[in-house]
Amino acid sequence: MAKMEVKTSLLDNMIGVGDMVLLEPLNEETFINNLKKRFDHNEIYTYIGSVVISVNPYRSLPIYSPEKVEDYRNRNFYELSPHIFALSDEAYRSLRDQDKDQCILITGESGAGKTEASKLVMSYVAAVCGKGAEVNQVKEQLLQSNPVLEAFGNAKTVRNDNSSRFGKYMDIEFDFKGDPLGGVISNYLLEKSRVVKQPRGERNFHVFYQLLSGASEELLNKLTLERDFSRYNYLSLDSAKVNGVDDAANFRTVRNAMQIVGFMDHEAESVLEVVAAVLKLGNIEFKPESRVNGLDESKIKDKNELKEICELTGIDQSVLERAFSFRTVEAKQEKVSTTLNVAQAYYARDALAKNLYSRLFSWLVNRINESIKAQTKVRKKVMGVLDIYGFEIFEDNSFEQFIINYCNEKLQQIFIELTLKEEQEEYVREGIEWTHIDYFNNAIICDLIENNTNGILAMLDEECLRPGTVTDETFLEKLNQVCATHQHFESRMSKSSRFLNDTSLPHSCFRIQHYAGKVLYQVEGFVDKNNDLLYRDLSQAMWKAGHTLIKSLFPEGNPAKINLKRPPTAGSQFKASVATLMKNLQTKNPNYIRCIKPNDKKAAHIFSEALVCHQIRYLGLLENVRVRRAGYAFRQAYEPCLERYKMLCKQTWPHWKGPARAGVEVLFNELEIPVEEYSFGRSKIFIRNPRTLFKLEDLRKQRLEDLATLIQKIYRGWKCRTHFLLMRKSQIVIAAWYRRYAQQKRYQQIKSSALVIQSYIRGWKARKILRELKHQKRCEEAATTIAAYWHGTQVRREYRKFFRANAGKKIYEFTLQRIVQKYFLEMKNKMPSLSPIDKNWPPRPYLFLDSTHKELKRIFHLWRCKKYRDQFTDQQKLIYEEKLEASELFKDKKALYPSSVGQPFQGAYLEINKNPKYKKLKDAIEEKIIIAEVVNKINRANGKSTSRIFLLTNNNLLLADQKSGQIKSEVPLVDVTKVSMSSQNDGFFAVHLKEGSEAASKGDFLFSSDHLIEMATKLYRTTLSQTKQKLNIEISDEFLVQFRQDKVCVKFIQGNQKNGSVPTCKRKNNRLLEVAVP
Ligand SMILES: Nc1ncnc2c1ncn2[C@@H]1O[C@H](COP(=O)(O)OP(=O)(O)OP(=O)(O)O)[C@@H](O)[C@H]1O
Ligand SMILES: [Mg+2]
Repeated sequence: MAKMEVKTSLLDNMIGVGDMVLLEPLNEETFINNLKKRFDHNEIYTYIGSVVISVNPYRSLPIYSPEKVEDYRNRNFYELSPHIFALSDEAYRSLRDQDKDQCILITGESGAGKTEASKLVMSYVAAVCGKGAEVNQVKEQLLQSNPVLEAFGNAKTVRNDNSSRFGKYMDIEFDFKGDPLGGVISNYLLEKSRVVKQPRGERNFHVFYQLLSGASEELLNKLTLERDFSRYNYLSLDSAKVNGVDDAANFRTVRNAMQIVGFMDHEAESVLEVVAAVLKLGNIEFKPESRVNGLDESKIKDKNELKEICELTGIDQSVLERAFSFRTVEAKQEKVSTTLNVAQAYYARDALAKNLYSRLFSWLVNRINESIKAQTKVRKKVMGVLDIYGFEIFEDNSFEQFIINYCNEKLQQIFIELTLKEEQEEYVREGIEWTHIDYFNNAIICDLIENNTNGILAMLDEECLRPGTVTDETFLEKLNQVCATHQHFESRMSKSSRFLNDTSLPHSCFRIQHYAGKVLYQVEGFVDKNNDLLYRDLSQAMWKAGHTLIKSLFPEGNPAKINLKRPPTAGSQFKASVATLMKNLQTKNPNYIRCIKPNDKKAAHIFSEALVCHQIRYLGLLENVRVRRAGYAFRQAYEPCLERYKMLCKQTWPHWKGPARAGVEVLFNELEIPVEEYSFGRSKIFIRNPRTLFKLEDLRKQRLEDLATLIQKIYRGWKCRTHFLLMRKSQIVIAAWYRRYAQQKRYQQIKSSALVIQSYIRGWKARKILRELKHQKRCEEAATTIAAYWHGTQVRREYRKFFRANAGKKIYEFTLQRIVQKYFLEMKNKMPSLSPIDKNWPPRPYLFLDSTHKELKRIFHLWRCKKYRDQFTDQQKLIYEEKLEASELFKDKKALYPSSVGQPFQGAYLEINKNPKYKKLKDAIEEKIIIAEVVNKINRANGKSTSRIFLLTNNNLLLADQKSGQIKSEVPLVDVTKVSMSSQNDGFFAVHLKEGSEAASKGDFLFSSDHLIEMATKLYRTTLSQTKQKLNIEISDEFLVQFRQDKVCVKFIQGNQKNGSVPTCKRKNNRLLEVAVP
């Protein structure tokens, strides 16, 4: 997604003022207060025009993230809040796009953050410039040169745990696209005295500690070193460990960085060997030894260390030993050798150590340059980054401080020159009249130091080269003579009488009033340090070393190249290199970063106003603001100016159609800003006073609030309206739906009502039609009937004469026939069951069929009886015949009869055959036995009864004794004339015998039997079949029997109940026998 272009400005959300140029009123107090206010709000960067003031926060702030890099990338300098990235971006872009070589000058005192700033600039440029494998390697090498140089050139001081002890200027080279090609590093005056001696609370260069802490045992053995710092005289012990610094880890970082930069393994090893040699040199000690000629002579105390050094460096031990004891001076083919006393020997030793180390450092810089130098010959664009030691004022200031401050003096000079130049150029460019600016120009101080004829450095060189006794005091004297009248030079001995009484000025000192303050220099050591002498014997000894690196570090030791000319002094060397640097810088577009240290405690959040005030003074920052503001305090291109303030004027708001300049003119006229307050340049508006700008800003703020209110108002209106419209729309939708629903409901109701009404109407109509149709049909039918009758009548009337005589009879017969036919057909279906005892019979349908109906019933009954009978077997038939016979004989005559109907006639109740008792009896009877039964024979005389076996055969009737089976009587059936019995329910019967027959001698028999009906019937049937005569059966309640001679009347009476249910028989007299029947 494309990043949204938001027009912002430095002026937005400012804490204090982001640009000191806008400070009103401008004085030291307001300046410091502004810095402090911003510092307290973590705003460590503040501008003075295009200069960045950076206050060291002493803690990591989240303002260097990749996101921040993106924020500042390709943005205008004044668009965002002040940042070192804005300056870096500006520099990089004008290098890339406008083809202007750039230099970034970072100044400030020790610990102010110069080195950090330079690294931030480099990392920013590395982040925004081109990418690609090759480019990235170049970037990596450039960035990794820092840890190497810091290890060898930085040390812990009381001011800074990572203080750069050398000046560094690095040119980064780019191609036309802005891709880095390589770089060149220049170093300035390493503080080599640190190698042999460090002030209290400070350390030697980092690399010594890193080597001893971080090297493997193997490496240490190889270098014949011990890990213990205390073993080495050159290492101060009081601050061997630095808080928050891991020397061992840093050692690995450095080795890694060396590898990336391109050091070969053997090169890195050689470097460490030199470092080890320097360390060990410090342990060489001398003792005095008297010689005959009375001169002092020194001797090495313990040669072990010397031996190890020589083994390490491949130097002949005797050569080195001699070099520590003698000094050879050659002049005009003459060699003079003098012995060294102990002090001189120590001086020589330290000089060697210092030289060895500082040359190693220069070699390192060269070696790095070799690696990082651009590979192509194409034209390069250059961005120089200068990280040089800042202006220093100590209690004891010596040659080093003098040199450093001279350098700063020069930088200030170039700053003034370039700033003014730039300012002037801009005025010319913009066509604005240049007004003279009053400011302090430090050229006069530079002149005091560097003037070739009577400058301090020239004096010093002169002294050093002068034959005769040369001391620091003679040098001071000389200074007193030459510089006494200079208004920036002070000394006790100066001719300027006003200082004569100044007791604060010691005798062995001189004071220079630098642009940044007065500095008192101790003259002691100036001559020596300027000479920077290394005895020739030592350099020759070094040149003879087998160690190629060491050998290469001392080319002047080569006897073949003996140069009798003195080497250039340190001062002149430095002056020359500073001059080169200045020339170099002058060709470039300068960008300034002025670092300020907020406190002396290396602590975050502390802002010491006094300390800051001091720095502001010597950095000349107020001057800087004044210069910048001399003519016009603020300038801005027309477009952004119009863009920012166009809302202040009706004509320009919201859009200005014409050119931006005209717009700004209209705007300023409208706002009635006094004409003397501003000027129109070619591309920029120049505002003389910050007050005017702030007025504009205030108006803008006010107007923005109004606009915000307006926008808010419109937005709210819009929002409410939108909401209202939405609600209305929704309401309409809801209403529509509701109406639709209601209408639907109503419609459905109407429809169903209509349907009901409709159906009623249709029903009514249909019924009406049906009624009419029915009526019509009935009418038609009636008409047809009437017509039929009428026709019938007509026809009958017509035909009557033809069949009146027999038609009625025929019709009658036909009708009758139909009825009978129907009757029979119906009867067929209504027939009762075939059971003879079924009494059911369908009712008679017509009266005239009554007889037929009865007859039919009779016939049906007979038929079904026959059917019934046809089923019988012969035996059954016989039984039924007998039963029928009995029925004919006794039905409705004898009261006993009905009870006999259900009893089957068995005949032989007594089974004579089976009973052995009656065997005789059986044998006596040949015929078939029809009845064999036990009966009661009534005694004729008294009416009492005796049991007798009653047997009936085909021809005879036999009576036998029940017990013995002996036949008592035998009556042939032909002799039986009659059987008598009562009509009542008793079993008495009399068998009448033929008078005169043999059997009748005793008279008739009177019996009583349980099976009277059966016996009488069978007797009747047998008699009939044997004699062909019907036996007379008399049924009467009074009959006569013949007992011997007597005729006795048997009378049946309804007896009393005395004997229960059994009839009793009693002979009343010879004429009467009474039977009482219950
Ligand atoms: N921008 C910063 N953010 C966080 N810490 C910083 C910043 N600048 C400096 N510091 C801290 O301050 C210390 C000193 O900074 P630096 O080494 O850059 O000072 P210097 O100006 O180079 O001093 P010298 O002149 O002694 O070399 C750093 O080690 C770091 O801890
Ligand atoms: Mg530094």
